[in-house]
Amino acid sequence: MNEHTIRLTVNGENAEVRVEPRMLLSDLIRHQLGLTGTHVGCEQGACGACTVIIDGRPQRSCLVLAVQADGTTVETVEGVECDGIENAVQTALHEQHGLQCGFCTPGIVMSLVAAHRAGVPAATAREQVLDGHLCRCTGYVNIRAAVDAAWEAAGDRRTGYRQENLGQESHRQESHGQESLGQVSLGQESHRQGGSE
Ligand code: FES
Ligand code: FES
Repeated sequence: MNEHTIRLTVNGENAEVRVEPRMLLSDLIRHQLGLTGTHVGCEQGACGACTVIIDGRPQRSCLVLAVQADGTTVETVEGVECDGIENAVQTALHEQHGLQCGFCTPGIVMSLVAAHRAGVPAATAREQVLDGHLCRCTGYVNIRAAVDAAWEAAGDRRTGYRQENLGQESHRQESHGQESLGQVSLGQESHRQGGSE
């Protein structure tokens, strides 16, 4: 099968890799780049475990072809810096017992980091961003408590965020099979389709 050469920036480092047209970004990240902190659960956009940040927007890497990431900047959980909201989210999840097996955790961290950077209020992050992630262990109560703790620790940047943005993002993402802030909304959609939590 023909391979393509793509160039992208991953966690601040330039990468040039050859990929098959059908390769998923999640597989590129895990198997070619060795960044196994990005987890793969469902491979159909439902669980959120594979979430990474692409050009500043959280997306499910199992719904993105590697060739579509050509020229982009990708952040995985390995690239999360140990300060600011990134550290606050991880510390809060730890201190509030927001994880057990930890399989869902990297994806949740990436969505919350992107949400906070975008100025999403804590209440929205707590109720809607988390709707895009499935956790088999914690029952969500402690994860929600961790969101509140993280936002309190890092500060709630409400400026610039508008609730209606979620709907616009959601519509755009459904059209392109990708997601961003509104991974939130796409997550809800997937959640409904999946029929369980
Ligand atoms: S593995 Fe991508 S959403 Fe589940
Ligand atoms: S902590 Fe185990 S799936 Fe979420």
